[in-house]
Amino acid sequence: MKRALITGITGQDGSYLADHLLDLGYEVHGIVRRVALEDSAHRLVRLAGNLDKLHLHAASLESFPSLFSVVSEVQPDELYHLAAQSFVSYSFDDSFSTFRTNIDGTHFMLECARRLVPSCKFYFAGSSEMFGHADEVPQNENTRFYPRSPYGISKVTGFDLSRNYREAYDMYVSSGILFNHESPRRGFEFVTRKITSHVARIKNGELNELPLGNLEAKRDWGFAGDYVRAMHLMLQQETPEDFVVATGKTHSVREFCQLAFEFAGLNYEDYVIKDPRFYRPAEVHLLLGDASKSKKKLGWEPTIGFEELVEMMVKHDLDLHSHH
Ligand code: NAP
Ligand code: GDD
Repeated sequence: MKRALITGITGQDGSYLADHLLDLGYEVHGIVRRVALEDSAHRLVRLAGNLDKLHLHAASLESFPSLFSVVSEVQPDELYHLAAQSFVSYSFDDSFSTFRTNIDGTHFMLECARRLVPSCKFYFAGSSEMFGHADEVPQNENTRFYPRSPYGISKVTGFDLSRNYREAYDMYVSSGILFNHESPRRGFEFVTRKITSHVARIKNGELNELPLGNLEAKRDWGFAGDYVRAMHLMLQQETPEDFVVATGKTHSVREFCQLAFEFAGLNYEDYVIKDPRFYRPAEVHLLLGDASKSKKKLGWEPTIGFEELVEMMVKHDLDLHSHH
């Protein structure tokens, strides 16, 4: 039985990846913050269905010795490093802590792997936010990085660290360059979930408006359940490489709104208001991924398209809020 260790297991992707690896027969371990174990009803909510099957270990991403102890105890065959301050907007408010978590945290995990389990396969959660103000459309593995946020800068550094560990120490390290992926388990601050949860609360009379920032930004939105399959496939190759994971379709925040409100029988123009608080100091205007390498080498393809994704999230939130 293969043993996997996931950092960030409590997040959207960590929870889907844990489900997927359990289905594949893995022994699944996760690193969580100590407070999560103390308040499992709230902080482990995405893992609720599988808690009895998972092995959770408390450690802090800020503390190398705490991570060292867990990696030493678990001795993983595959390590998925997903933990990060993942909200782009917040990275402008506190770039310093974002760098500590995302850069040092990644460096600590790579170094633990090198010292303790050098033949372990390592996945780094790279991001299309690294492309930022991209000079070509669509973006592929060779597109130049031009990050536009502290978050993007932290991910470019994590990506470079990962590549350097691969090249310098001959380790199996792969980075996924994942475009935005969403689900009913998405955090409430990200624009898709913010929209679908507001739609549900507007529908049930709890709210009467949805304040948003830039409606013209375009993203290549896929389903998180599809994207975690690609993470696993990246660690099953002969040689470690980096891969773009995307749907190859892009839509604006406005289009997402229009469709989400339509599914609930509403017109978004009656509820969406522009709020300067939600604009970013520097914006990424357009992301569109070319995942042909993933298709060719990993045999990976998305199964859920844009309309299905919006519908899935709206239905879930309507259901959630009709019981309240
Ligand atoms: P998420 O839902 O925000 O989950 C983030 C995870 O990181 C949570 O488990 C969180 O733990 C943990 N974490 C954050 N700060 C931490 C800290 N200081 N110490 C320990 N753990 C910490 O993010 P996601 O959407 O699943 O994304 C997973 C990874 O993929 C992230 O690295 C993200 O940057 C990257 N990524 C995401 C997307 C996307 O569209 N979703 C696209 C490209 C890349 P708590 O629950 O304790 O806060
Ligand atoms: N969050 C948010 N809230 N975004 C808004 C709002 C709002 O009220 N109004 C407009 N937007 C726009 C943002 O300006 C951005 O252009 C777009 O909606 C998407 O924002 P998010 O959903 O917050 O995601 P993101 O694209 O910044 O980052 C996500 O995807 C990255 C991959 O490209 C995160 O999951 C990152 O962790 C991930 O790396």
